[in-house]
Amino acid sequence: MREELPPSPCLDGLQRPLRDLRISVTDRCNLRCTYCMPREVFGQAFVFLRHADLLSFEEILRVARQGIALGVRKIRLSGGEPLLRHGIERLVEMLAGLRTGDGQPIELAMTSNGTLLAKKARALKDAGLTRLNISLDALDETVFHRMSGSAMPLAVVLDGIAAAQAAGLAPLKVNTVIRRGINEGEILPLARHFRHTGIILRFIEFMDVGLTNGWRLDEVVTASDILAQIDAEYPLRPINPRYAGEVAKRWAFTDGGGEIGVIASVTQAFCHECGRLRLSTDGKLYTCLFASEGVDLRTLLRAHGDDAELRQRIAQVWRGRGDRYSQLRHAMTEVPARKIEMSYIGG
Ligand code: GTP
Ligand code: 5AD
Ligand code: SF4
Ligand code: SF4
Repeated sequence: MREELPPSPCLDGLQRPLRDLRISVTDRCNLRCTYCMPREVFGQAFVFLRHADLLSFEEILRVARQGIALGVRKIRLSGGEPLLRHGIERLVEMLAGLRTGDGQPIELAMTSNGTLLAKKARALKDAGLTRLNISLDALDETVFHRMSGSAMPLAVVLDGIAAAQAAGLAPLKVNTVIRRGINEGEILPLARHFRHTGIILRFIEFMDVGLTNGWRLDEVVTASDILAQIDAEYPLRPINPRYAGEVAKRWAFTDGGGEIGVIASVTQAFCHECGRLRLSTDGKLYTCLFASEGVDLRTLLRAHGDDAELRQRIAQVWRGRGDRYSQLRHAMTEVPARKIEMSYIGG
């Protein structure tokens, strides 16, 4: 029987093409960042997913393959902390072998907290990972502990960043979430530290993801405030996006010191270009970071539904999409009753 192919590219209800697939491979993390997995909620008693609930690497590969057939050109692995997933290098190798219909490789990236990279960076590169984004919120040890909610030594992350750079995982990006009153003082030291290194530092506005991080608008340091602080010391000029729909706005140091980025989801929504589909650790598709419900694919995967059916299901989810949470946030009068957590869906 001939497979019925959906129209290419696959567009959602707001005419946005499906471009990125973000895959969460574990809901666990070895840090407890206050803005993501506050220890009061994600403590000893918190029940994480059981191993049997997680999609296997083979199941993930099947979803990725159908995503690519529908237009996905970038896959990003995330978590929790993706490097905690046992054998992750094997998954990277499997995904790196995928090709588009015209034989092109796709971009295969990861977002990690860096703590296990000193050991794993080389193997990830050898397995076919193309890029890596690493979270780091402070260069001051005490502030780092406050933000990461753990006693993890800062040096472990810095060593991880160095290992990723040495392994040639370029361009390497560092993600910094800024919370007013906690790590605002780190903006300039971080900018100074990463100038002239080839590493792209990106400042992220604290977002109201999930329901556990106690988000308040007055704790958000806006991208324009961050840029003004840096520009006063190291003048900046805007530069063009690297790709359509890039979440970060890019700025170059006018003295040739490299570039930085700001991710202003709260004050400058970028939903109009959002082509990101998210696959949770337990196999649900989410069409927005701020969604409350996902669409289960695991049952279909385990019922040995064939791949044409899988593709149809993914296409159907994408075509029915109308999400633009960040654009609507300010008009909302109350917080939605249910929102998924970042550690579950991977940012
Ligand atoms: P690049 O491929 O390097 O551009 O990565 P990225 O910025 O898309 O991914 P990363 O995982 O590094 O995410 C950086 C920040 O952007 C995190 O705080 C994410 O939660 C946020 N982010 C990524 N995608 C979206 C999105 O679709 N919506 C919102 N609101 N935030 C997003
Ligand atoms: N607001 C903004 N960024 C967040 N991240 C996690 N939680 C939040 C939040 N509430 C970032 C992490 C990581 C990426 C996956 O998402 O710092 O870099
Ligand atoms: Fe872990 Fe990343 Fe969440 Fe921090 S932001 S708790 S490192 S998943
Ligand atoms: Fe995309 Fe939702 Fe983020 Fe808007 S808020 S950019 S629709 S994931």
